[in-house]
Amino acid sequence: MRVSYREQGPAQFRAAIRELVSVYAAAMNPPDRTLSGREAIMERHAVSPGFRGLTAHDDGQLVGFCYGFHGENGQWWHDMVAAALASRSCSVISDSVISDSVISDGGSSGGAVSGQRTWLDDSFEIAELHVLPSWQGKGIGRSLLLTIAAGRPERTAVLSTADAPTRARRLYRGVGFTDLLTDFRFSGGEPPYAVMGAMLPLDASAAPRSPRPSR
Ligand SMILES: CC(C)(COP(=O)(O)OP(=O)(O)OC[C@H]1O[C@@H](n2cnc3c(N)ncnc32)[C@H](O)[C@@H]1OP(=O)(O)O)[C@@H](O)C(=O)NCCC(=O)NCCS
Repeated sequence: MRVSYREQGPAQFRAAIRELVSVYAAAMNPPDRTLSGREAIMERHAVSPGFRGLTAHDDGQLVGFCYGFHGENGQWWHDMVAAALASRSCSVISDSVISDSVISDGGSSGGAVSGQRTWLDDSFEIAELHVLPSWQGKGIGRSLLLTIAAGRPERTAVLSTADAPTRARRLYRGVGFTDLLTDFRFSGGEPPYAVMGAMLPLDASAAPRSPRPSR
């Protein structure tokens, strides 16, 4: 295996969206009918401010990708999460001190804390991270994640992932992400998500554990 990583500017990324969505489909196994919608979402994301895309290749074959952008008001994910964090309060950052309260959907409510910096004030939103199944568990996802977040100007990184004990969740925790929301529903029909946040830079110091069967 000879894995190389390539930066993808917005134009390159958009030109590769079909291929990227096929990696997403292989990794996530979503219903086929959702794939054209996924392409449209990625088209929109590619023109977001501060967009950064990264692909992984093994001997020229695309085997994984990751991308993110600067979070701003008016973006769907950002607004959904901002509202949930504000209504359930207390995930604020005070200088270097982070409230690590985990807030579950339907949890107790409280007001947003004005005058304090929150997780989303200056955030890099990591929208997608996927590796083809045959290449999973070899450190590629971790490299994509650490590389895409390296050198970012934002204060925090945020993302959402299935609220379950998955490989993705372990990977995120291993580089410093903590749960901001659990059992969170973006829409009624979907399974629960965890919203996670980390201070930047991510923690690359912990050695990866020996691999376990994926989930
Ligand atoms: C989640 C995902 C992106 C992680 O990428 P990955 O390349 O499989 O992850 P890594 O190999 O970097 O790390 C995974 C495991 O390999 C181990 N590992 C890391 N570096 C390694 C190396 N050099 N050699 C062997 N194993 C290694 C890690 O310790 C980790 O072990 P764990 O699963 O027991 O926690 C990938 O598995 C995937 O695409 N999953 C399906 C889609 C998905 O869930 N995407 C995320 C949506 S939020």
